[in-house]
Amino acid sequence: MSLMQTDYTEAPPAPPNVMIIFGAGGDLTKRKLVPALYHLCNAKLLPDSFVMLGLDRLDMDDDAFRALMAEHIRDHVGERFDDGVWGRLCERLQYMKIDMLNGHDYELLCERLSRIDAERATDGNYLFYMAIPPSLFSKVADHLGDAGLLHETDEDWRRVIIEKPFGQDLDSAIALNNHLHKNLDEDQIYRIDHYLGKETVQNIMVFRFANGFIEPLWNRNYIDHVQITVAESVGVEHRGAYYEEAGAMRDMIPNHLLVLLGFLAMEPPNSFEATALRDEVNKVLDAITPLTPEQVLTHAVRGQYGAGTMPNGEQVAAYRASPGVDPNSHTETFAALKLGMDNWRWAGVPFYLRTGKRLTAQYTEIAIQFKKAPTIMFQDTEVDDLEPDMVVLRIQPNEGIQMSLGAKIPGPTMRIGAVNMDFCYEDYFGNKPATGYETLIYDCMKGDATLYKHADTVEKGWEIVQSVLDVWSALPPRDFPNYAAGTWGPAAAGDLLKRDGRLWRRIQVPKAHGR
Ligand code: BG6
Repeated sequence: MSLMQTDYTEAPPAPPNVMIIFGAGGDLTKRKLVPALYHLCNAKLLPDSFVMLGLDRLDMDDDAFRALMAEHIRDHVGERFDDGVWGRLCERLQYMKIDMLNGHDYELLCERLSRIDAERATDGNYLFYMAIPPSLFSKVADHLGDAGLLHETDEDWRRVIIEKPFGQDLDSAIALNNHLHKNLDEDQIYRIDHYLGKETVQNIMVFRFANGFIEPLWNRNYIDHVQITVAESVGVEHRGAYYEEAGAMRDMIPNHLLVLLGFLAMEPPNSFEATALRDEVNKVLDAITPLTPEQVLTHAVRGQYGAGTMPNGEQVAAYRASPGVDPNSHTETFAALKLGMDNWRWAGVPFYLRTGKRLTAQYTEIAIQFKKAPTIMFQDTEVDDLEPDMVVLRIQPNEGIQMSLGAKIPGPTMRIGAVNMDFCYEDYFGNKPATGYETLIYDCMKGDATLYKHADTVEKGWEIVQSVLDVWSALPPRDFPNYAAGTWGPAAAGDLLKRDGRLWRRIQVPKAHGR
């Protein structure tokens, strides 16, 4: 199984299969999927009998498709790019032009797949990857079903990976689940959230459950509050049209940020099997108290960036000036929430979440702030206040764990300063470039759904944010744009914590240590 597999060289290659990508001309295929296949190929985890068949509207032959993918792969893989590995993968890439809404094209797809099976011994195992706009998920699934391409036998399997966003809100997610179930059994559906594929996200569980001294402290008795920051310095790039519909809340919070929260707050699962893990994450999501409409006004903050200067000096335009974006757009590019959990472990502990585009840094972390120690023994010394202890789980980049502790400043008087103990992944395990998609694609090929989301997990995510979406759509923002590109977001995000006598942690992105 996927989790805990630290060394891929020990793992066997996936079974023979064809991975069929709908939307092969899009950003995701270039930026994440093909680099992930490259890393899998490099780790010898792709079977010899493997083909990736790209599908899209563009008119291209196999060679043109390979050339298109080759343009980007070097940038994404970086300095460790190896021509030999790329050559092995490239030879297995094929392309077919398709109109995804035309039933006849699916007959052609059947013929093409039969040909690939005959030539490449791929055994009729098909992994369909929907890297397409959500409005097409149901329609494509219907066409695949009508063409008989989703029908499994004892000899072969058919699986579908569905990209996020899974629905636009709770109702549409339920409708989509119901629709997909017409053509697919639940165990054929793989709802992807690439945060579940990130090593450091999985490591949250290891940090908590493999280290006996951590777990006794991991509760409301010792933890004051938690801050989850997923900051992006990039803008919306070529995805303006998609982002206009989604916004920061839909794009990031019910999925990626709740994954982080789920792993951070869950009870220890009985095992790392799919069901045990999902059950524990679902219990966390169940315990989160959805905000009432009144609370949305004080516990939720939205923002949109205006023009500004990034820390590297780059002048960037406002969100409203991005391609595909309405010049009067009300879409939020920043969202922050204060959530609470109604359970034994976490009652009374606030979880502050924030995410946004064009923020100061590209950086994701979870900061756990512990309650202060009593200062009584320091009376009559120069210590007038103790800094709270903190554990910071750095998810990306420069993955690692940092503990801030109080230590005596050398000298004749009693003074205390904050010191950091810092563990950096790269120092111990080297730098293994990965997109987060490698494990997930490999797992799906093997039929392991541990790191994929079940229908009810997705629905619970939407339930948590539904009241915010409702209030925000009923009350259009009056102050957009309300933060400048290159800053940490709108002032109201700071007020969210100040009202509770707290502050967002001052983030300083650490440099990679190097070996
Ligand atoms: C995607 C969002 O799911 O996650 C993007 O649609 C976002 O808007 C991306 O940029 C962030 O992923 P990562 O792996 O770069 O943190």
